[in-house]
Amino acid sequence: MNSHEGVGATHGGTAPSIFLRGISKAFGETIALSDVSLDLRAGEVHALLGENGAGKTTLMKILYGLTQPDTGLIEADGVQLTINSPRDARAAGIGMVTQHFSLVKNMTVVENIALASASTFSLDLGVVRKEIKAASERFGLEVSPDAVISTLPVALQQRVEILKALMSGCSYLILDEPTAVLGPQDIDSLLDVIKRLRSESGIGVVLISHKMAEIEQVADRVSVLRRGKVVSSSSVSGISTQELIGLMMGTDEVAVAQRRTSKQLVGNPILALNGVGVNIEMGGLSEVSLDVHPGEIVGIAGVSGNGQAELVRVLSGTLAIDKGSIVVEGNTLGKNSPQSLMRAGVGMLGEDRHASAVHALQVMENLVLDCIDSFATRFQLKQKEILQHCESAIAQFEIKTTPKQALGTLSGGNMQKVLLARLFSRKPKVAIISQPTRGLDVMATRYVRSLIMKASTEGTAVLLVSEDLDEVLEIADRVAVMYRGAVIGIVDGSTATRETIGQLMAGITK
Ligand SMILES: Nc1ncnc2c1ncn2[C@@H]1O[C@H](COP(=O)(O)OP(=O)(O)OP(=O)(O)O)[C@@H](O)[C@H]1O
Ligand SMILES: [Mg+2]
Repeated sequence: MNSHEGVGATHGGTAPSIFLRGISKAFGETIALSDVSLDLRAGEVHALLGENGAGKTTLMKILYGLTQPDTGLIEADGVQLTINSPRDARAAGIGMVTQHFSLVKNMTVVENIALASASTFSLDLGVVRKEIKAASERFGLEVSPDAVISTLPVALQQRVEILKALMSGCSYLILDEPTAVLGPQDIDSLLDVIKRLRSESGIGVVLISHKMAEIEQVADRVSVLRRGKVVSSSSVSGISTQELIGLMMGTDEVAVAQRRTSKQLVGNPILALNGVGVNIEMGGLSEVSLDVHPGEIVGIAGVSGNGQAELVRVLSGTLAIDKGSIVVEGNTLGKNSPQSLMRAGVGMLGEDRHASAVHALQVMENLVLDCIDSFATRFQLKQKEILQHCESAIAQFEIKTTPKQALGTLSGGNMQKVLLARLFSRKPKVAIISQPTRGLDVMATRYVRSLIMKASTEGTAVLLVSEDLDEVLEIADRVAVMYRGAVIGIVDGSTATRETIGQLMAGITK
């Protein structure tokens, strides 16, 4: 297999199977992978499942040449492959879309693809544009070749990444948690693309996902990684969801989270939005009125792009309001600036954990990042107190890390726990929490939800914005549904169903 087959390559099951054999990898004391073997076949979707930190990304980075294993080898039909770089991987027919995209943001689609395939295609942009068009049609991945990457929503950026990989002629495509960054509709269309790649082009897909339903929907085989070892590899039809969860966690007893019962609202709301409006081109907010009481979790549901992101930005102070008012504990905020909101006791967990954390800094430093004043004298930082604060947060929030580990090397679940610890250890009066369990495994998801519920029972008013309807239904006391920038309905959480919320999400109010 070589990359010069180009876009028109027909794979049709001719690509060799790929075998990873006895792969081990340690990072210092952390054993990320230990003697892992895995078979990949052309024309098959192979799901890779495992809790946060199990080693899924590390294993796939090794296959794609981004990381070198300590021991082990990779073979294609008995022939050993030398994969020292992504370039070697692509030459062997292996492509990967990583958890963090690698597109050049201020360049166009066609420029990015030309750049990536400079060795394969002509640098004539006109030619590349035609190649993109052909590949878009063939794989069902429509893009505008001349759009600048930074202007594209994340689902389209991902599409460009996939096209880029496919256009380098890969017969295996690794997708590392591709659905974690997508809303429900984009997830469906991505799953369709995956099915099509498998059936029409004979491509072997490795799909890393934490969502059982997706795995059942598209995967042919599923392998489970647990603490750096493959504990199971089988056909999807031959194994139940419950068995898979059991294998992932090392137990087959998985308690189902408790549904909330209807809650009596006490006292005055601690956060109130009165007719809040934001005028921006395409979207914005119109007349949003909403209140959250102490100890209450109000969930915001809705199809993505109906004003949820703007609402979060308004409450983080990064989007000024044009109309209406925001009242915290009875005091109307003069301006919704980040400072005034923070001073009023409004804390925030943003939807992109990578944007709210500094990867290069230590866990300890990240934990005190937004309250550094309380750990400093006039002249220096109180290092000992920072360390103590960090150690107790690590223990209290059960974070698998050490205070001095660089945050960027933590698994998704552990990184999210650090950010939640940062938020809740300051005991905010109001917590705005956006997509808190995106990309988290079943256990971490449950843990994060229980942390949110715990904070609410301790009196924090929580506004939970989530595209995961099950999450909203599981933990919200009331569910507000957004449609076209407005709150179209508010439903009691204990009686809400997928159907009632689904109707509101579609804009139907009767
Ligand atoms: N560059 C690195 N330096 C130090 N430790 C690392 C590095 N990369 C990964 N690790 C560690 O290796 C282990 C496996 O991480 P990996 O990212 O492969 O997990 P994962 O299964 O992909 O998790 P997630 O579902 O959260 O993405 C984790 O304990 C992680 O902290
Ligand atoms: Mg990963």
